Amino acid sequence: MSTPLPAPLVPGQPLTALAPMQDVTDLAFMGVIAHYGAPDFFFTEFFRVHAQSKPEKHILRSIDENATGRPVFAQLIGEDLGHLARTATELIRHDVAGIDLNLGCPAPKVYKKNVGGGLLREPEKIGEILATLRAVVPGRFTVKMRIGFDDTSPLDRVIELVNEHRVDLLTVHGRTVKEMYRSEVHYDVIARAVARAQCPVLANGNVTSAPRAVAVVAETKAAGVMIGRHAIRNPWIFRQCREVFSGQSVTRLTLADVRDYIERLFRATNVPNLAERYHVNKMKKYLNFVGQSVDPTGAFLHDMRRTETEAELFAVCDRHLIADGAASREFAPEPYPGVIARPNCETPNAVADGCSLETITA
Ligand SMILES: Cc1cc2nc3c(=O)[nH]c(=O)nc-3n(C[C@H](O)[C@H](O)[C@H](O)COP(=O)(O)O)c2cc1C
Repeated sequence: MSTPLPAPLVPGQPLTALAPMQDVTDLAFMGVIAHYGAPDFFFTEFFRVHAQSKPEKHILRSIDENATGRPVFAQLIGEDLGHLARTATELIRHDVAGIDLNLGCPAPKVYKKNVGGGLLREPEKIGEILATLRAVVPGRFTVKMRIGFDDTSPLDRVIELVNEHRVDLLTVHGRTVKEMYRSEVHYDVIARAVARAQCPVLANGNVTSAPRAVAVVAETKAAGVMIGRHAIRNPWIFRQCREVFSGQSVTRLTLADVRDYIERLFRATNVPNLAERYHVNKMKKYLNFVGQSVDPTGAFLHDMRRTETEAELFAVCDRHLIADGAASREFAPEPYPGVIARPNCETPNAVADGCSLETITA
C-alpha cells in the first residue's frame, strides 16, 4: 500500500515543489519562500550518509522548526545500505513528509564516491538501496534522479526499480550527470519516465516561470514541477504557478518588490555573530540569480558583486531597484538572455564537494 501524497494547496492543480539545494534551502530560505507563496512541498538539502554520519543539525532545523505550514521531505545522499537505513530510521522520528533519495548530484567529488548521480552507473545497486529504504520507511519514500549518467540508457531500468519498490513520488531532472547544468533539459525523456512510472512524477529543470511550468506539465504529462534556481531568482514563482494553473494572469512584479525580498532574505539569513563580510558574500550567492531579471545589461549584478558591507549592498539595491523611477519598473518574468549567474566569483577556491552554489553556474 502506498501512502498518498500530502494534500496540495489547491486540489486538482499540478503539484509544485521547491528543489533541494545545498546551502540554499535551509530553514531561513524556506521561510522566505513561504512568505511570498509556498510550494506544495519542500525538500531539505541532502543529509550526507556514511559510516560516521549523523543527520546534520542545521538541516534538521529545517524540519524541526518548519513554520511554513507545508510538508518537508528529508533528502539523503549515500550508498551504504546499513547507514542509509540507520539514517532514514532516525529521520522518520522527525516531522518529515517522507524520505527522499538523491540519485542526481553531478559534482565529480560526489559521483566519484558512487553516490548521488554516480549511482546511475549501477542500476542494480540502486535496486538494493531502494529495497533497503522501502523496508525501513513505512510512510512516503521518494526519489530524485537525473535521466542517466553518460546517456539515458539506465533510465528505463531505474524506473522499473522505482515501480518494483513502490516509490511514492519521483522527481526527474531532465539532464544526464555529464550534462551538469549546461545542456538543454530533455523534457521528452521526462515524458518517457512519466509514461513508465507508476507513481506521480515531478518534472525538474529550467522551469523559469509559471507559464513555463504550464508548458512543461503539458509536454511531459508530469503531475507537477519542481523548481530550484528560478525560485531563488523569483520567490513568487509558486504563487504565480497557482495563478496560471487556475487560468488567471500572473501578478506583475516590480523592482520595489525585489528590494523587499532582498531585505527579507538578508534579515532571515542573519545569525548572531555572523561576520558582515561573510553575510554579504552569502547574499551575493542568492543575488546572482535575482540579478538575472533586474536589468538586461547585468549592471545590478556588476555593482552588487563589488560590495563588501551591508551599507554598500543596500546602497546598490536602492540605486538599481528604487531610485529614478526604478521602483515601479518590471522585474522581468524570465531571466534576461545573456545575464549569467556566476555564483563562484567570490569563492574561487571553494570546496567543490557537493551540489552547492560554488559548483554551479547557470
Ligand atoms: C545551489 C544548488 C544546490 C543543489 N543541491 C541539491 C541537493 O542538495 N540535492 C538535490 O537533489 N539536488 C540539488 N540541486 C539540484 C536541484 O535540486 C535541481 O535539480 C536543479 O537545480 C535543476 O532545477 P532548476 O533548473 O529548477 O534549478 C542543487 C542545485 C543548485 C543550483
